[in-house]
Amino acid sequence: MRMILVGPPGAGKGTQAARLLDRLGIPHISTGDMLRAAVRAGTEMGRQADEFMKAGKLVPDDVVIGMVLDRIAEADAAEGFMLDGFPRTRPQAEALDGALRRAKVTLDAVVLIEVDDDLIVGRITGRRMDPETGAIYHISYNPPPADVAARVIQRKDDTEEACRERLAKYHSETTPIIPFYEELGCLKRVDGVGTPDEVTQRMLEVLELGAE
Ligand code: AP5
Repeated sequence: MRMILVGPPGAGKGTQAARLLDRLGIPHISTGDMLRAAVRAGTEMGRQADEFMKAGKLVPDDVVIGMVLDRIAEADAAEGFMLDGFPRTRPQAEALDGALRRAKVTLDAVVLIEVDDDLIVGRITGRRMDPETGAIYHISYNPPPADVAARVIQRKDDTEEACRERLAKYHSETTPIIPFYEELGCLKRVDGVGTPDEVTQRMLEVLELGAE
């Protein structure tokens, strides 16, 4: 399956990806994770990306597009992939579309996880991550277990100020890709409000994968 997860920051893209991937057996390609790895590795691209990310701004298209097109050309993505956080602008969507056409493959689904802005800030500022496993927690909705709690970290862009900027960028830059995928006929909307289990069930339904 070739699929994309779209949604505002904090919609639950990473949370749902972790729940679906074992079942789908495809690589999870998160541009946010790739960029954060480049920042940690201290590469030139990582140093440039860090400034944009900390401020809640988008990393320039030319950087991200090249990174993703190289990644989906790797052998493990030949039979499918789950893109998370890409595309995020109309030029990114058009570049991906061109690459898939050249490879003579099509997208199976673009899943849009919908959550209203008023819920987002609480989800983002309460998020914590386990740096060892990448597991995502929330201080209220999904607290880390006692043996993990001491080592969880908060992302640098999970401040209220950066979150509001990310939301603004989502509405101005990312929502224009929604009609693009509606026209291609592969957009599937999922209500992202409810427990993570409820959202997973909705995802399985729109992907026609049956109940867990
Ligand atoms: P990225 O890492 O992609 O961040 P994002 O899209 O802002 O999404 P998040 O990771 O914040 O949220 P999520 O939807 O995965 O939610 P999660 O599951 O963690 O990008 C970061 C930055 O990198 C960007 O701002 C940009 O600078 C740059 N970048 C990345 N891709 C780019 C691109 N293509 N072009 C340009 N720049 C790019 O959940 C959030 C919290 O809510 C967690 O605490 C979780 O436990 C909780 N939660 C999840 N589901 C539920 C639920 N159902 N109920 C209650 N709580 C829930």
